[in-house]
Amino acid sequence: MKIAVLPGDGIGPEIVAQALKVLKALNLKLDLKEAPIGGAGYDAEGDPLPDSTLKLAQESDAVLLGAVGGWQYDTLPRDKRPERGLLRIRKELNLFANLRPALLYDELADASTLKPEVVSGLDIMIVRELTGDIYFGQPRGISTLPNGEREGINTMRYTESEIRRIGHVAFNIAMKRNKKVCSVDKANVLETTELWRQVMIEVAKEYPEVELSHMYVDNAAMQLVRAPKQFDVMVTGNIFGDILSDEASMLTGSIGMLPSASLDANNKGMYEPSHGSAPDIAGKDIANPLATILSVAMMLRYTFNDEANAVRIENAVKKTLSQGYRTGDIYTEGCKRVKCSEMGDAVTAAL
Ligand code: NAD
Ligand code: IPM
Ligand code: MN
Repeated sequence: MKIAVLPGDGIGPEIVAQALKVLKALNLKLDLKEAPIGGAGYDAEGDPLPDSTLKLAQESDAVLLGAVGGWQYDTLPRDKRPERGLLRIRKELNLFANLRPALLYDELADASTLKPEVVSGLDIMIVRELTGDIYFGQPRGISTLPNGEREGINTMRYTESEIRRIGHVAFNIAMKRNKKVCSVDKANVLETTELWRQVMIEVAKEYPEVELSHMYVDNAAMQLVRAPKQFDVMVTGNIFGDILSDEASMLTGSIGMLPSASLDANNKGMYEPSHGSAPDIAGKDIANPLATILSVAMMLRYTFNDEANAVRIENAVKKTLSQGYRTGDIYTEGCKRVKCSEMGDAVTAAL
């Protein structure tokens, strides 16, 4: 199992260390190699995705990533910023399918800001397209108009084949779940997503058992907090998926609980928590490492076809929560408040 470990910035190294503790406790045959990305890549080599890091990722079966970004990098030219390193590695590895499962562990029903009855039993899979949309569309930039005024430009675009391949991912996942796909778009206003809707309808014909529905993204944002359990699989584009998955994370108690898998067509993948580098709490050993630990479970499931060990990790997380261990973001009265590293130890012990 050749795994590239890219801790990145902020809380990245702290949470990745916990995920590695858990992974190593499984006694698998691992070949782990670490490399810098994001601000760490810029600091080391003047590039948020150094060539050596990209090469290592390309030669590995899977990538484990912490997070990138930090205030000190926010004024760099755009191509030097940490976020560009992350976007580039996703594009270079063709990781077009981003799976973000929003699953509420019963033990955390009180940790959500929503009422327990609204979120209890929640299990949604958000399928976010990751290598297209307004994130990558040309033209883009800031230019100056003839009248001297500046104009910012980004372009939302999707080709039919890009939509079709993410559609198939969503429907295949739905076939193994409750056979419901909700495609989220803004087809009432944006042509790109009008095409999105047309292609989803075409793809759905190949999956007669799956029920396809469509929802405008503004309504979807509202429905996610009104009645989130109506959803099974949600499929959407890059930008809507970015926003809706952060929203959905709070249904699970905290953004620190939401793992992710970013897959190519052959299930080679990069695994990272859905949250960022949390510069406000970095270096304090208080971040929640569970999203990263659960991302390792996704790695075992999707890239290494090791469902048994994936479930072992998920059960260990569940056990740790039922024993009352909580980092600050999911803490409720009567529980044991622990640090990031203590949470990693507790999951390892539960394993
Ligand atoms: P963020 O997700 O880093 O933080 C948002 C809030 O959630 C903060 O209050 C933070 O403390 C909290 N939080 C996040 N993860 C947590 C965890 N594991 N445990 C406890 N609390 C946690 O988002 P932001 O503040 O908008 O962005 C900070 C930086 O991260 C920016 O540079 C941004 O570009 C970058 N970012 C990177 C990724 C990524 O690497 N995939 C994702 C999102 C943002
Ligand atoms: C995420 C992040 C990234 C994104 C940023 C940091 C480029 O927010 O992984 O969700 O927008 O995809
Ligand atoms: Mn995001």
